[in-house]
Amino acid sequence: MPGLIPSRPFFQMLANRQFPAGTFIRSREQLDYLEEPDIFHDVFGHVPLLANHAYADYMNEYGRVGLQGMERKAVKFLARLNWYTIEFGLIRKPEGVRIYGAGIVSSYGEAKYVAKDRSAHQLAFDLERVLRTGYYIDDFQSTYFVIDRFEDLFDLLKGGDILALIDEIRNEPTLTPFEILKRDKVIRKGTGDYWRDFPRTKTKLK
Ligand SMILES: [Fe+2]
Repeated sequence: MPGLIPSRPFFQMLANRQFPAGTFIRSREQLDYLEEPDIFHDVFGHVPLLANHAYADYMNEYGRVGLQGMERKAVKFLARLNWYTIEFGLIRKPEGVRIYGAGIVSSYGEAKYVAKDRSAHQLAFDLERVLRTGYYIDDFQSTYFVIDRFEDLFDLLKGGDILALIDEIRNEPTLTPFEILKRDKVIRKGTGDYWRDFPRTKTKLK
């Protein structure tokens, strides 16, 4: 069915090692991006990586933490984590920085933007930073966060400390994806060219 699956069944399915997939497919005009996940995004973008144990364990744990997070008003922050990892994450490989986020994998335009355009920042993954960084859902990213190994993602969630961290930072101001902070470990500083004509997006920062 079109649309986003609500949080609770989404977390529940992940916690049961199930993965929901859209059943409709995008039109030719939507090849680059659509806000609602279709079967191409879900099956081509997400499903292959579920064969990776560490990635699958992270998704599973994300579902469990998500269910707890619903009771603790943490969903907005967990959604940012999902956005900057599972949907738009990059990973450092010996041969260079590579894409793994399903939102990029399933968009020819954004995959090309990440590979060839130097506008966006690439920052080393930092959990607190990610939880505080908002995102726009209707254009390419201006900041990507880069992990070193899929195991690192799982380690982030082990023990459930992330919910305590969310409690600590929930009243801190939201960071925009355009800025680089002193504390950031910059892998590649973006030129910002693509985003020069800001505001490009019609949506609010999430
Ligand atoms: Fe997705």
